[in-house]
Amino acid sequence: MDFNKVYEIDCINGMNEVLEENSIDIIVTSPPYNIGVKYNSHNDNMEFKDYLEWMNQFGKACKRVLKDNGSLFFNIGDKASDEFKAFDVAKQVNNNNLILQNTIHWIKSIAVPEEDINIGHYKPINSRRYLNNLHEYVFHFTKSGSVTLDRLAIGVPYADKSNIGRWKSVKNDLRDRGNIWYIPYETVKSEKEHPAAFPKRLPEMCIKLHGFNENTIVLDPFMGSGTTCVVAKELGCKYLGFEIDKEYANLSRSKLSQKEISNYISAQE
Ligand SMILES: C[S@@+](CC[C@H](N)C(=O)[O-])C[C@H]1O[C@@H](n2cnc3c(N)ncnc32)[C@H](O)[C@@H]1O
Repeated sequence: MDFNKVYEIDCINGMNEVLEENSIDIIVTSPPYNIGVKYNSHNDNMEFKDYLEWMNQFGKACKRVLKDNGSLFFNIGDKASDEFKAFDVAKQVNNNNLILQNTIHWIKSIAVPEEDINIGHYKPINSRRYLNNLHEYVFHFTKSGSVTLDRLAIGVPYADKSNIGRWKSVKNDLRDRGNIWYIPYETVKSEKEHPAAFPKRLPEMCIKLHGFNENTIVLDPFMGSGTTCVVAKELGCKYLGFEIDKEYANLSRSKLSQKEISNYISAQE
């Protein structure tokens, strides 16, 4: 099994045939959502029952390659007109495969009138019936349902500092962020390179929450433009990615060959 490599193959074949059992620490990924996105190679308009079966096979392959204390962070969104869809898909990943340990809400934009805050970007829908859909899910699956996490690695400072002295367990000015993660899309710098890339901060927070070191192996089976692998590399982990499309695989390779190291959020952003 070679690390730090982009494989231009189907991810289920890749996970079943290239990777060893119990070999991966962290999977962070976002599959095609089956909502008609125009990918180069993949048809994002499958029959829904075929899509669900595919996601079940995906869950099975993830279970095979994950270590017993590994984590799968599975990002998926839905449409305002079909709010059960993300859960239907998550159930297929779970079915006979992995246990849902946490459900994280990725918030792309939020308004907090009391604080005079209205931040983040989204693509507005033209509807009098549906609200704009400003969130996606990150389902955190594990084999046991009880994998220990490093919650304070992505913790936030206490608003009320008197909490620090009040509780014995509180040693630093950091509390659990909880399962609502506000992560805005990054400002697009040039022409859009991939139709469905997530922001770097999303895999960053997942990897930090699981906990990592230089021996940690991070996999993205649907790597697209390579966001997860770029973050894993920049954090000093080992990485692997599968991508079915040649152009996207080459895009990932080119990003992974760049030297640039981003400024990452510290725990006390
Ligand atoms: C939602 S995108 C992932 C985007 C990625 N998170 C990023 O930040 O760029 C899903 C990707 O899965 C790829 N894909 C579709 N079917 C695949 C398969 N069977 N095996 C591997 N990759 C596949 C698509 O080409 C697409 O690039």
